[in-house]
Order: sequence, then C-alpha cells, then structure tokens
Amino acid sequence: MKVILQAKGLWKEFDGTPILKGIDFSVNEGEFIAIMGQSGSGKSTLLYNISGMDRATKGVIQFQGEDILNQDDNKISNLRLTKMGFIFQQAHLLKTLSIRDNIVLPGFKAQRKRREQIKEFAEELMKRTGINQIADHDIKKVSGGQLQRAAICRALINQPEILFGDEPTGALNSGATKEIMDIINKINVDGTTVILVTHDAKVAARADRVIFLADGNITDEIVLGKFKEKMTTDREKNMSEWLVKLGF
Ligand SMILES: Nc1ncnc2c1ncn2[C@@H]1O[C@H](COP(=O)(O)OP(=O)(O)OP(=O)(O)O)[C@@H](O)[C@H]1O
Ligand SMILES: [Mg+2]
Repeated sequence: MKVILQAKGLWKEFDGTPILKGIDFSVNEGEFIAIMGQSGSGKSTLLYNISGMDRATKGVIQFQGEDILNQDDNKISNLRLTKMGFIFQQAHLLKTLSIRDNIVLPGFKAQRKRREQIKEFAEELMKRTGINQIADHDIKKVSGGQLQRAAICRALINQPEILFGDEPTGALNSGATKEIMDIINKINVDGTTVILVTHDAKVAARADRVIFLADGNITDEIVLGKFKEKMTTDREKNMSEWLVKLGF
C-alpha cells in the first residue's frame, strides 16, 4: 500500500503552549480515517497542520512523499487548491453567488481545465449529490444538508487526491448526516482518501480506521476495515463498545 500522507514528530505550539506533542501517523492512499477526541484535544489543529492550512512548529509532514512543512505559502496554497478538498461544519458558501457559481469558483481559480469542462463537471457533481435542481437557488433559502452537499461539490471540483473534513456533519440532523456520509463513503470507494474529524460514533463507524487524540497525543487507534455500502449493526456496536472502553 502506498502512503499518501505522513506526519513524524508533529509538534504545534500556540504562543509557546504545546497543543500537538509529537504526533506520528501515516495514511495510505484510499484510506478513510476518522479522528476523534474530547473537545480541545487538538483534532482541528491536527487536521489544519497535516493539510498545510496551518504551519506546525516542528516535525515532518509529507504529502505524496513531498515535504509540506517547509514549502513557501504559494506552493502550499496551490497544493491545497489542486490536490486537497476541504469541508467544515458550516458550508461557508459565498452568499452573493449561486450554488453553481460557488462550486465552479475553485475550478476557475486552479485553471487546470477549460471553463466549459469545469462547468460540465460541476453539473455532474451536483447530479451525483442530488442538488442539480437547486443549482440556481438563493443559498439563503436552502437547507443545511443541501448547503453541505454544495460544499462537497466545491471540495471535489479539482478532483483532489484527499478530502479533509472538520466535523462536516456536526450541524446536521441524523437524516442529513446519513445522506452526507453516504456521499462521502462513495467518494472514498471511488478512490479519494478521506480524513474526517468527528464527535459522532455513527460517522466514525464508517471509517477504515479511527484515531483517538487526547491532550495533543494519539492515544488509541482502532481498525474497522472498509465500509461496505450499508451500516451493519455489528459495525456500530463495535464502535460504540470502543467508545465506552476509551471513556467517551
Ligand atoms: N489559533 C489558536 N491560538 C491559540 N490557541 C489555539 C488556537 N487554535 C487552537 N488553540 C488551542 O488548542 C487546543 C486544541 O484546539 P482544537 O481546536 O484543535 O481542539 P478540537 O479537538 O478540535 O476541539 P473541538 O472538538 O472543540 O473542536 C485548545 O486548547 C485551543 O484553545
Ligand atoms: Mg475542532
């Protein structure tokens, strides 16, 4: 198996206070990793540092074998734009643009394909995620689940190798969470590596591997194996038992 992302001795301080304390971990191409841990344990910080959104204080971070910690900002921005996709708890769409225009925007910015091709791909993504009917709607009038689908389309417009999510279902009800997670599982099965931070056992139960953070260290890891289309009661039970064992 090929490693896509690797962190060694990842250390992050804010104002001299260590928040990540020497994290070592590696992610294989095509894997789906969930990151769990108490509030304040450093999950978002870890996600932002391994994706180059923030810069670690020291350590080694490699993406596809290339060091990203010591690259200049332009190179990291370009890497993020073309090879990585991001989704957050809120969709963060531009309110003055339609859903369609929000989705094509990073495609136009990356300039890797002709505008027509980018628009066509946006239509395909919107169909796949079931929002093609609302492509021209005012984004203030669509549901949180629909906004999050649009955010996923925007994250995928440049066909990233890896999708990062910081509690992408954190603001959704259980029905919308299931729908979004079905989409994310499909993206993963189609070949994109996925790393999600979540507080939700049902979301984590869909990952191949769950990493637990406490006080800036990885304290546990459980391997669940590849998710196969439908959630099984065994899989959820397994995950819930682990959470109890780990004191959640
Ligand atoms: N920009 C920052 N400046 C200073 N301290 C920060 C900054 N970002 C995070 N921290 C601190 O780092 C610690 C970890 O924060 P982080 O956001 O990574 O936690 P988290 O595990 O994602 O929590 P939550 O589940 O609440 O989102 C917290 O104590 C937080 O206050
Ligand atoms: Mg967080």
